[in-house]
Amino acid sequence: MVAKIQFHKISLALFLCLGFLAVHATCRTLQDASTTMQERHEQWMAQYGKVYKDLQEKEKRFRIFSENVNYIEAFNNAGSGNRPYKLGINQFADLTNEEFTSTRNGFKGHLYSSIDRTTTFRYENVTDVPTSVDWRQKGAVTPIKNQGQCGCCWAFSAVAATEGITKLKTGTLISLSEQELVDCDTKGTDQGCEGGLMDGAFKFMIQNGGLTTQTKYPFQGVDGKCNAKAAASHAATITGHEDVPVNNEQALMNAVANQPVSVAIDASGSDFQFYKSGVFTGSCGTELDHGVTAVGYGVSDDGTKYWLVKNSWGTTWGEEGYIRMKRDVDAAEGLCGIAKLASYPTA
Ligand SMILES: *[C@@H]1O[C@H](CO)[C@@H](O)[C@H](O)[C@H]1NC(C)=O
Repeated sequence: MVAKIQFHKISLALFLCLGFLAVHATCRTLQDASTTMQERHEQWMAQYGKVYKDLQEKEKRFRIFSENVNYIEAFNNAGSGNRPYKLGINQFADLTNEEFTSTRNGFKGHLYSSIDRTTTFRYENVTDVPTSVDWRQKGAVTPIKNQGQCGCCWAFSAVAATEGITKLKTGTLISLSEQELVDCDTKGTDQGCEGGLMDGAFKFMIQNGGLTTQTKYPFQGVDGKCNAKAAASHAATITGHEDVPVNNEQALMNAVANQPVSVAIDASGSDFQFYKSGVFTGSCGTELDHGVTAVGYGVSDDGTKYWLVKNSWGTTWGEEGYIRMKRDVDAAEGLCGIAKLASYPTA
């Protein structure tokens, strides 16, 4: 009898203990999963120097971060069959797609009709173009820059193309000033951090007599008053600008074979926001909202033709700040509309 009671006691204790362990274990598993995401958010915040104004904001950002991380991992795990590119948890991981596009994509496609498109195209009879070009290897591309939260991609695109033609003309690569365009090029289509057009920037450079250096007129990332003294010191001059014939990837190739070219694209999708590596194949639309620079083209290891594109979102986005975008697609306007409104400065 005594033994039996003791057995009962022991088994009860064992049962309770096991039961407790089981519940505890379940809690720990759940906790671990959410702690991991929270830890990842904390680590990500530290990595990118993110600070939130209060706990409420932090919780909101955590929720968006979690959703984005889940999206990115599901995308990457889905198998690469028709997706030869990967997404990554970059500096935009706590932003919704709407927030992301509203602050960064400042190409004013709807203003384009207010600028006369040029008709002369100096590369129209170019026939012998190499199968691949990388202007970085020719020293005609400055290091990746970062526009921050200023919607002045148009300035970065125009400056990169101008840096390229200046190097080809003078033999010297100089980092030029986007801020001068943001502050001083305000009379036509261009509105600083609120957006603009590359052709507008080229027009300003011609009228102003040139553009100064990054050193003399450094990037601030906000609209400012034009520093006329700095803007009067010209480190680079262009004589004109030309538009690449519309919706013609072969014409674009002829141009890019000869110099870095400003291009406008539709960069509004989540897949563009989180692009990490590989040849980007979309999905994307063709409503142009972002200015970037085609600094080459080539063919990937698996035979996919691509455009080599310099972005202005720092080196933590894409392939060290660059994206390779599929070239020679079925649509005449090119992937994400890359062949719709390309242009370049002439020197
Ligand atoms: C291209 O060739 C045509 C026909 O020879 C010529 O009329 C045109 O001026 C050339 N274009 C350029 C930019 O040289």
